[in-house]
Amino acid sequence: MILAANFKMNHTRSSTKEYIDSLCRFLKKGNFDQDIEIYLFPPATALDSYECESVRIGAQNAYCAEEGSFTGEIGPVQLGEFGIETVLIGHSERRELFGESQELINKKFAFYKERGFEIFYCIGEKLDIRERGIEEVKSFLRRQLLNIDTDYENLIIAYEPVWAIGTGKSAHAEDIAEVMEFLGSITDAPLLYGGSVKAGNIESIISVEGCEGALIGTASWKVDSFCEIIERAQMRKRS
Ligand code: PGA
Repeated sequence: MILAANFKMNHTRSSTKEYIDSLCRFLKKGNFDQDIEIYLFPPATALDSYECESVRIGAQNAYCAEEGSFTGEIGPVQLGEFGIETVLIGHSERRELFGESQELINKKFAFYKERGFEIFYCIGEKLDIRERGIEEVKSFLRRQLLNIDTDYENLIIAYEPVWAIGTGKSAHAEDIAEVMEFLGSITDAPLLYGGSVKAGNIESIISVEGCEGALIGTASWKVDSFCEIIERAQMRKRS
């Protein structure tokens, strides 16, 4: 199972360090299952080589060039300094708020795949598509997966319906199940759900057939809340 915290534009370098220290203490004392993989995506200024074996650090965004004149961007050289080999690509906020086209996203995917990075690739439909029914949702998701190598061995797919992100209203288990089944027919990559995941719904989300974890925004920003999610996920797994 994968539980990943997306800090978005929250936390500083020093608060990220404190967060990781507490998270690590929690994981050590909690008789924590090694087959739950924990990831943290801090903002770019808080990327570092943190000393916590049980937590993998990834970048929320990175550009598709080795280095050069790309104001405001970071790439493999900057990530390499900290041994970071995990990157999030295609998050709906990058697509919507920062105008990332599917073409750019495809380039980023190909670039980081070529370098062997672990890629969390995010897909998800907006409300108007969801309201038109599941077949529309599937064809939209299919388009977001076009030209993405779904057989890539270091791929993790996060299904994050845009209408569920940051709204406090997660998708229903049946809706998630339908999408997981569809994605499972296309790829063997681990499938995550994201969108208003919290301690109160993590158990039902990871109980969905085909769902192998969650990408968590808001409810991961406070370390106690993320720890509670991990604890509940672990309890559910053991039961
Ligand atoms: P949320 O964000 O948990 O705040 O809905 C999820 C995400 O954007 O990955």
